[in-house]
Amino acid sequence: MRVERVLLKDYTTLGVGGPAELWTVETQEDLLKATEAPYRVLGNGSNLLVMDEGVPERVIRLAGEFATYDLRGWVGAGVLLPLLVQEAARQGLSGLEGLLGIPAQVGGAVKMNAGTRFGEMADALEAVEIFHEGSFHVYLPQELGFGYRQSRLPPGGIVTRVRLKLKERPLEEIRRRMAEVDAARKGQPKRKSAGCAFKNPPGHSAGRLIDERGFKGLRVGDAMVSLEHGNFIVNLGQATARDVLEILNRIQEELPLELEWEVWP
Ligand code: FAD
Ligand code: EPU
Repeated sequence: MRVERVLLKDYTTLGVGGPAELWTVETQEDLLKATEAPYRVLGNGSNLLVMDEGVPERVIRLAGEFATYDLRGWVGAGVLLPLLVQEAARQGLSGLEGLLGIPAQVGGAVKMNAGTRFGEMADALEAVEIFHEGSFHVYLPQELGFGYRQSRLPPGGIVTRVRLKLKERPLEEIRRRMAEVDAARKGQPKRKSAGCAFKNPPGHSAGRLIDERGFKGLRVGDAMVSLEHGNFIVNLGQATARDVLEILNRIQEELPLELEWEVWP
């Protein structure tokens, strides 16, 4: 186990966030020790807006035995989803194609029920192992309250491993589906971001609504509403959480949108 003081901007895809104590846990014993005091769990930091002041709690990151996988058995929650999507395709296993392009760890993808219109994480799960109150419990997906970009995990629950629901399919079919998902993501920016900032209201696209209001290109400091997609706020270099919050507020003054990101603390 490693415990170090870090800046969370180095651990989030938006590149924003202040100091915290990072606990990198590699074994069950590490996890028991790390959870003895108040904590938060960090996945790949791709859906987080971390304040410039940082967070007071321990920030737990899964590595070691929680970052190994067997696609036909247990998959560690610390494994990167893009790696699994490619590896499943290579092994002729279908079920993860809809998740192509989501830069999550498995645990973060479960917690957020990450997805696209081609499929969600919950659809690909057979079982989820969650550590809470000092021990490991296995849940069926229907017990975890999955909905659009949401789940109901037990309080303080840390997803540690999952079993995936994959089926053998011809490689060309899997590749065709992946190409379709890839094409649907072409309009998304390549710059540093945390994906879509807001959830889509039923029947609408938040990105389109933001675009129609003329917010694209709105810039505060180094944070900017992407010119490519209205629901992405990009970091042009040295953006701070304050800059990003200012943009979120300006948008929410005009549009009743619900934040998809999680704000720390
Ligand atoms: P983090 O951002 O690190 O954390 C998110 C939440 O999950 C936090 O509450 C955290 O505490 C919790 N968490 C993380 N790991 C665990 C764990 N092991 N156990 C319990 N809780 C945990 N999202 C989509 O749904 N669809 C998309 O198409 C999509 N495209 C994106 C494209 C880009 C370029 C980017 C940057 C982001 C995109 N996102 C998308 C957003 C993001 O990738 C997802 O929300 C993803 O699920 C976040 O996973 P993470 O591992 O990065 O979690
Ligand atoms: N549109 C605009 N202007 C914009 C952005 C979009 O007019 O600035 C229009 C598009 O032309 C399209 C419609 O709005 O007609 C929908 O846009 P898009 O296909 O990009 O999908 P989205 O609803 O904006 C959702 C998810 C994405 C996911 C894509 C692909 C949400 C909030 N967003 O975006 O997920 O990758 O579909 O399936 O559900 C995320 O959650 O972080 C995320 C990136």
